[in-house]
Amino acid sequence: MKKFYITTPIYYVNANPHIGHAYTQIAVDAVARYHKMLGDDVFFLTGTDEHGEKIEEACIAAGFGKGKEREFVDSIVVNFKKAWDVLDIAYDRFIRTTDDEHKKVVQEFMACLADNGDIYLGQYDGWFCAPCETFWTDTQAENGVCPDCGRATGRIKEENYFFKMNKYQKWLTDYINDNPGFIMPEYRKNEVLGFLREDLTDLCISRPRDRMSWGVPLPFDEDYVVYVWFDALINYLTGCNYAGGGKDFSECWPANFQVIAKDILRHHAVYWPIMLKSAGLAMPQVVFAHGWWKMGDEKMSKSKGNIVDPLDLVNKYGVDPIRYFLLRAVKFGQDGVYSEDALVTMYNNDLANDMGNLLNRTLTMVDKYFDGIAPTAPARAADNVLAALSGAIEENAKSIPSDVDMYFKDLRLNMVLERVWQLVGMANKYIEKSAPWKYSKEGNSPAVKTIIADLLEVLRIVAIFVFPFMPRTSMEMWKQLGLSDDVSRVSLKKLNTWRGFPAGTRIAKGEPLFPRISSAL
Ligand code: MSP
Repeated sequence: MKKFYITTPIYYVNANPHIGHAYTQIAVDAVARYHKMLGDDVFFLTGTDEHGEKIEEACIAAGFGKGKEREFVDSIVVNFKKAWDVLDIAYDRFIRTTDDEHKKVVQEFMACLADNGDIYLGQYDGWFCAPCETFWTDTQAENGVCPDCGRATGRIKEENYFFKMNKYQKWLTDYINDNPGFIMPEYRKNEVLGFLREDLTDLCISRPRDRMSWGVPLPFDEDYVVYVWFDALINYLTGCNYAGGGKDFSECWPANFQVIAKDILRHHAVYWPIMLKSAGLAMPQVVFAHGWWKMGDEKMSKSKGNIVDPLDLVNKYGVDPIRYFLLRAVKFGQDGVYSEDALVTMYNNDLANDMGNLLNRTLTMVDKYFDGIAPTAPARAADNVLAALSGAIEENAKSIPSDVDMYFKDLRLNMVLERVWQLVGMANKYIEKSAPWKYSKEGNSPAVKTIIADLLEVLRIVAIFVFPFMPRTSMEMWKQLGLSDDVSRVSLKKLNTWRGFPAGTRIAKGEPLFPRISSAL
């Protein structure tokens, strides 16, 4: 069976992770968890990008000194792994570009491009932005300024190896036009087609070892190391066992989703497909570029000194509220401006009021009216008003699986949450409108049974679809609902979307899920 292969970028280890990095991780984690629930054989790859000038400079700046790069990167990698553990990122493999296996794959891959006649020696005379690790031409870097980050670049004039990108320009343009879902969202595809309207220059893909030695030596010329972006992109192949060749690799590649942010779109939507094409490998199905978390007008980044540490936030608010906020607050694909006040507001409104209350109120009523045992829903509602309310919520709940699936296919992650919260909101209104306490006073037990059975069913469905985003919360809901098994093992293929809540279940009401907080902590 072909695996569902999903990747994140591999992060530079020049500094510790911030919520921008955490954002990509959480998004990919949610997609991976959803696909596991669909029954797919998921393979989720992440890792760290550890070579190149940027890391070499950071190593020196951190006081480790030249030649101590390995010690330096080791000291940072642990912090990435720790952050991903704290954020419940359930990746399958963590790749480091300093792994021996990866270095071997890079060399094998570079030899393959050379054998195919796509690499040649030439003179590089242009700009290089070390923080972005990107080469720029005179027209791209006006006055030597990096068009991506706005910093001054350095002029480089040296003999180097080049990759024949230009040769593939027409092929790539046609491929993107013929495969409209290849680059997502659509506006990013248009951006790439925009780059491709200008003549693609061949890409410099080496650095002379005597000027920059922290990298993988070129297999055909030991005096050079591989340009760090080539080294980095190849991780997606190493990660799924390209070195082993054969079955493992063909079960995995091509990737289903390669998720990145817009800053590295050119590398993933121009360099990468051309590298794959030259090597005779298939294209990933989707390259999805999301937006940036910004502080005011600026991208959040270590170099700007405006970062938010995800671990601080988790200490204050817990892991699930952070996961929820990051994926809900911004349309996946567009930029978002970070604010802790917005996080607190969303926590109180969506989590404490809407979802936490729904669970709490419902379970309180199960205890009060049915001694903690889930009632059996009568075949028909007691009156027309209740029948209409009950019918409407049933209809809403039943269309959740197909709506959620549609949104996940396009990585419209905020929409998944919006859709689930629409059901949560409807359930809260249902309680107000049907007023079960009135029916109870009148001794109309069938009516109360209908309402409570409906609410428990809604909560079961909400717990299931919240799992990819907030696994701990979902498991806690599951426990309080008294449901057995493990919510993560629910198979969405076999999901019974109405009346799947087993009558007779003893609920186990616990502490409220999200106690309200008055202001940013
Ligand atoms: N090492 C390269 C990627 C190589 S992939 C083959 C790199 N690393 S990075 O550390 O700069 O991380 C870039 C990625 O981190 C972005 O593509 C994005 O996924 C994430 N983000 C970093 N800052 C971010 C924001 N401020 N906002 C959203 N995502 C951010 O580029």
